[in-house]
Amino acid sequence: LAVEKDAELGAREWFVSAPGKVILFGEHAVVHGVTAIAASVDLRCYGLATPRRDHRVSVHFHDIEHFSCEWDTASLPWNSVIPAVSGKEYQDLDQNLVDALLQGPLRQIPDAQRHARVASLAFLYLYMTLSKGDKRPAFDFSTRATLPVGAGLGSSASFSACAATAILLIHQRVSIPELPTPSNPATEVNRWAFISEKILHGNPSGVDNSVAVYGGALGYTRPGFIRKSGMEPILGFKSLKFLLTNSKVPRDTKKLVAGVGEKMTNEPELVNGILEAIQTITDEARRVLADPEITRETLLQALSALINENHGHLVTLGVSHPSLELIRSRTADPYGLSTKLTGAGGGGCAVTLLPDDFKPEDLQKLVDELIRENFEPYITSVGGSGMGIL
Ligand code: MEV
Repeated sequence: LAVEKDAELGAREWFVSAPGKVILFGEHAVVHGVTAIAASVDLRCYGLATPRRDHRVSVHFHDIEHFSCEWDTASLPWNSVIPAVSGKEYQDLDQNLVDALLQGPLRQIPDAQRHARVASLAFLYLYMTLSKGDKRPAFDFSTRATLPVGAGLGSSASFSACAATAILLIHQRVSIPELPTPSNPATEVNRWAFISEKILHGNPSGVDNSVAVYGGALGYTRPGFIRKSGMEPILGFKSLKFLLTNSKVPRDTKKLVAGVGEKMTNEPELVNGILEAIQTITDEARRVLADPEITRETLLQALSALINENHGHLVTLGVSHPSLELIRSRTADPYGLSTKLTGAGGGGCAVTLLPDDFKPEDLQKLVDELIRENFEPYITSVGGSGMGIL
């Protein structure tokens, strides 16, 4: 039956997934050219792209406002799509197309569903810019995440990676053998996931989508600044254990990133000093993680100190929140653990490093306490696989 269906539609169904991420060092600073260290978490976004027999395309988000919408492909603003010039198509957002989508097919979506609107915008933008000539495949795209949405764990990047993968496959712009490996970073999927992130976040560094696509743990430096840009796999991360705690305080990554940008304009000396200090932290973290001679105890002590130091700088940048400070103090006293905010801050999640000898009964006690305070703790493994396809 499946074979018959495929043959009839000239296309097949794709099931894609991509992980969220935790940034251990360097969030915000990475937007301004500092190296960040981030790893995939075992919470993911899943997407199912199913070909249709008519001329319509639809999206459904189980986790973003339970939103569904569908459009006749002929009604989309095709006149606003500037034909992609090879190599240029990845760089800037085509604002014309963004405006045409917001004023046309997305106009009816109420403000209460703004997260769904912006995710639909990213989806339609990729769908249209990736269409070549008259090829306008009809399909449904449905997503669901085990990640908390909007909590600093990269839910938007994992959605972006899923949408980019599914649309590239549906448009036959990539085939499975060409899909990325960490040694081949210049891939279609990551570039288009970055475009989607630009729509969702304004000025993303690219670290979130890179982790969503490649998985594992990465040292990531954004292109366009004085330091050598690129991605470097970080080994030795997989054996580390973390507790992630969602404060459940909603926040807006775009605004928080813009706020740090403004602070940089108003207080350049202060912010540049912090950026330098955070680069030193990530350099030191990479050094200790790569040191074959270091004892486990020294490694964990060094990382704990760097976590506290990095958090202090994020506080000065103005992106912490009382809920995150409360999580920090609960984990510090009496457990002696090091915690920092992770991602954009302003609420969202905190990450706590768990030493090897941290007793399971203490962890259970801590988790119970955090739940009692109305926080949402996750014990997660990090550094697992990136984007996947079925
Ligand atoms: C968001 O997960 C991390 C930030 O550094 C923004 C970015 O890197 O795009 C705050």
